[in-house]
Amino acid sequence: MTSPTPLIAGNWKMNGTAASLSEAQAVAAALAGTSARVAICPPATLVERAAGAVKGTALLLGGQDCRAEVSGAFTGDVSAEMLADAGASLVILGHSERRAGYGETDALVAAKVEAALRAGLEPIICVGETLDERKAGKALEIVTGQVRGSLPATLAGKTFSVAYEPVWAIGTGLTPTTPEIEEVHIAIRATLVEVFGDHGKTPPILYGGSVKPSNADEILHAAEVGGALVGGASLKAEDFLGIIKAL
Ligand code: 13P
Repeated sequence: MTSPTPLIAGNWKMNGTAASLSEAQAVAAALAGTSARVAICPPATLVERAAGAVKGTALLLGGQDCRAEVSGAFTGDVSAEMLADAGASLVILGHSERRAGYGETDALVAAKVEAALRAGLEPIICVGETLDERKAGKALEIVTGQVRGSLPATLAGKTFSVAYEPVWAIGTGLTPTTPEIEEVHIAIRATLVEVFGDHGKTPPILYGGSVKPSNADEILHAAEVGGALVGGASLKAEDFLGIIKAL
C-alpha cells in the first residue's frame, strides 16, 4: 500500500493584503529539502499575486472555496476554473465556517468537489462535529456521514485529502486529545476504504483546529494523521514553518 503523502495547508481565511505576500515568500524560501507538500490558501484576491511571488518554489497555492458552476450570474462568487486560472492547484471545500455560515450541505460540497476536479484542482474536503454533537456521543456518526455525503464517487483514483476539523477546536486554542483525534481519523480512513476500496488508502487525512508549533509534533505523529490544515498559525511564516518542521 502507498502511504499517504503528507500535506500541510495554511488557510488564511479572510486575512491578508499585498503586505502579507512576504510571509508566503518566507515559507516558500524555507521549503527546500522538506518532504511534505505545503500549501497556502490565501483569500481569492491574493491567489494570483501569491502565485507570482512564489513562482519556481515548491509552495502550492489553493483557494478557500469555489462555486460549483463554471460561470454565470453569481455575484461575488468564484469558480474553480477562476482559481485554477489564477494559479491555484488546490481548493478547500466544505469548511465548517461555510457549512455553518452559508448553509452548505454535504450535497453542495460534493458538487463543489466535482467542480474542483473538472478544473483540475485538488480538493481538501473538510468535515467535523460541533461541541454539542461530540457531547452527545455523535462525533463519529456525524464525521463519517459527512465523508459519505461530501465525497462524490468520481474522486476514486484522484488526488485529494480530507481534513478533520472539530468545529469546537477552530480558533479556540482547544484541541481534542491524541486518542480522540486518532479515533476519528481511523474512522475516516475506514470510511474512505469502504467507499473507494484501495483508492481510499492513499488520501492523507489532515487534522485542523488550533494547530500550532507547540502541539504540532504530537498531533502530526498521531495514527492516521497525514498532515494539518492550519488557520491562525499559518498567517506568520515563523509559526507555519514551526509546524511544517514538526512533520
Ligand atoms: P485555527 O488553526 O485558527 O484553529 O483554524 C483552523 C481552521 O479552521 C483551518 O481551516
